[in-house]
Amino acid sequence: MRECLCRCFVPETTTVKASVRPRVAPSVGHSVIPASAAPRSVACGNLVPMSTPVSRSRFHDVALRGEGFVLRPWRSDDLGALLEHANDIRIVRGLSDRFPHPYTREDGERFLAGDVVDLRDPVLAIEVDGQACGGIGARPGHGGRRHGAEFGYWLGHSLWGRGLMTQVVALYAPWVMQQLALHRLQATVLDNNPASARVLQKNGFEEEGALRCAVVKFGELRDLRVFAKVKRSLEDATQTAQ
Ligand SMILES: CC(C)(COP(=O)(O)OP(=O)(O)OC[C@H]1O[C@@H](n2cnc3c(N)ncnc32)[C@H](O)[C@@H]1OP(=O)(O)O)[C@@H](O)C(=O)NCCC(=O)NCCS
Repeated sequence: MRECLCRCFVPETTTVKASVRPRVAPSVGHSVIPASAAPRSVACGNLVPMSTPVSRSRFHDVALRGEGFVLRPWRSDDLGALLEHANDIRIVRGLSDRFPHPYTREDGERFLAGDVVDLRDPVLAIEVDGQACGGIGARPGHGGRRHGAEFGYWLGHSLWGRGLMTQVVALYAPWVMQQLALHRLQATVLDNNPASARVLQKNGFEEEGALRCAVVKFGELRDLRVFAKVKRSLEDATQTAQ
């Protein structure tokens, strides 16, 4: 298995762009998403205007508006905010060791270039007061697992404890399940991350169990708690149910 979104783990059937070192940008936690040969925009050079979305995915013009925040695609001019918020050990504690810390300019540039996660997936910045302060994203599975997705999220520390991520997940989860015709949306959470578990519980995610001794974090073995929301009817997902 390979680590995915927040603490998520996904089968090795997905591939990683050959030249990508196995580090993960925080926007979708630990996801290392396949970067196919399809054309993509150049994000961090001078080839695109500074406010240009970094990916021309089907989600490139999405703007989900919540109370005091907007979920929208990452843009090339998010680099400064990304570095400001992501370079924080308190965020890494809830995530995998593969979440880089310190979070360098190069890490941010590689993420915004789409070299770390596939920005054609529904990977969105959490914008508050005009600044990208965190991220949320989902990666769909493949083959028989294409009806499911892993998702993860993070938020700059200055915004913790206000109920913001609870609202973000409330907006994002139903949207992404509808957009990807999902029957299962899953997140895995370190056993010492009660805040994230609470966010999921408040949004109706059911705890299904634990992946015991799944992670070594700061030298200690930790369990991963598995949370999911499912939609059992196939009616709304004919694309994925075939
Ligand atoms: C997890 C994270 C996204 C939460 O964001 P947030 O905006 O502070 O979350 P909210 O304020 O919406 O909700 C947090 C809930 O956890 C509770 N909580 C916080 N710390 C807690 C603790 N130590 N023990 C128990 N509950 C706790 C809060 O009281 C709140 O619940 P309540 O509304 O019932 O009071 C944020 O802390 C973060 O980005 N952490 C680092 C990255 C991370 O862990 N990502 C998730 C990986 S699975």
